Amino acid sequence: MEKNIDGEILNVPRHVAVILDGNGRWAKKRLMPRNYGHKAGAQAVEQACEDIYNLGVQYFTVYAFSTENWKRSVEEVTGIMNLLRNYLVNSIERSNKNNMRVRVIGDRTALALDIVDAIRKLEDATKQNTGLNFTIALNYGGRDELRRAMTAIAKEVKEGSAELTDITEDFISAHLDTAELPDPDLLIRTSGEERISNFLPWQIAYSEFYFTPVLWPDFKRADFVEAIRYYNKRDRRYGGVK
Ligand code: IPE
Ligand code: IPE
Ligand code: MG
Repeated sequence: MEKNIDGEILNVPRHVAVILDGNGRWAKKRLMPRNYGHKAGAQAVEQACEDIYNLGVQYFTVYAFSTENWKRSVEEVTGIMNLLRNYLVNSIERSNKNNMRVRVIGDRTALALDIVDAIRKLEDATKQNTGLNFTIALNYGGRDELRRAMTAIAKEVKEGSAELTDITEDFISAHLDTAELPDPDLLIRTSGEERISNFLPWQIAYSEFYFTPVLWPDFKRADFVEAIRYYNKRDRRYGGVK
């Protein structure tokens, strides 16, 4: 979608995915505990939803907690889960006010029951909204997602509801957590790391990547505009010739 952003006509990506990174370092710089950084990171996510929608983005997906993040201290994991609890409950009203639809991807079976319940309520309460599609990756790992999809497909074949010849790329996509979402056009990772860390490996096959040293809690509207400018300089060829 073409949009006039601060006097500049830019092609705005439909789906932006972000690996939110650098909360811990942001807190450390302030001589504060890591969970202080996660709190600031959560506030930055709320602001980002508004900014990015105003910029014309339709799908916004964030990596909030990976299947590997359980390796962190109990204190940190508990702190992150409590922030989530707060977010899930408090955001129903705000999401509806902003016409935002919220989804959660990842394996829910390892999450506390009250969190699973809060996710279901939030998804349900916002499913009629037609504004920003905001997706939170929670206990998400790309390899784990593929494993779950493969198990589901194998079961269908075994039980006879699917044939081997049904297994097309679209069929696989439809068995992923992201079945309802288009693939990301732009993937952003903050904090200077330039790796994927198991985020959407299938879905980002043709995404453009934007890496920035800015720590997630410091990432603002102007940084999104910078990322969209960078995206506009890319020439997406999808394997063809232009
Ligand atoms: C990202 O920030 C948030 C989560 C992974 C939950 P980090 O906690 O990874 O921050 P750094 O990388 O230690 O600075
Ligand atoms: C990736 O960040 C996971 C999330 C942002 C949720 P990490 O900080 O966990 O990744 P690594 O350890 O640097 O690869
Ligand atoms: Mg990190």
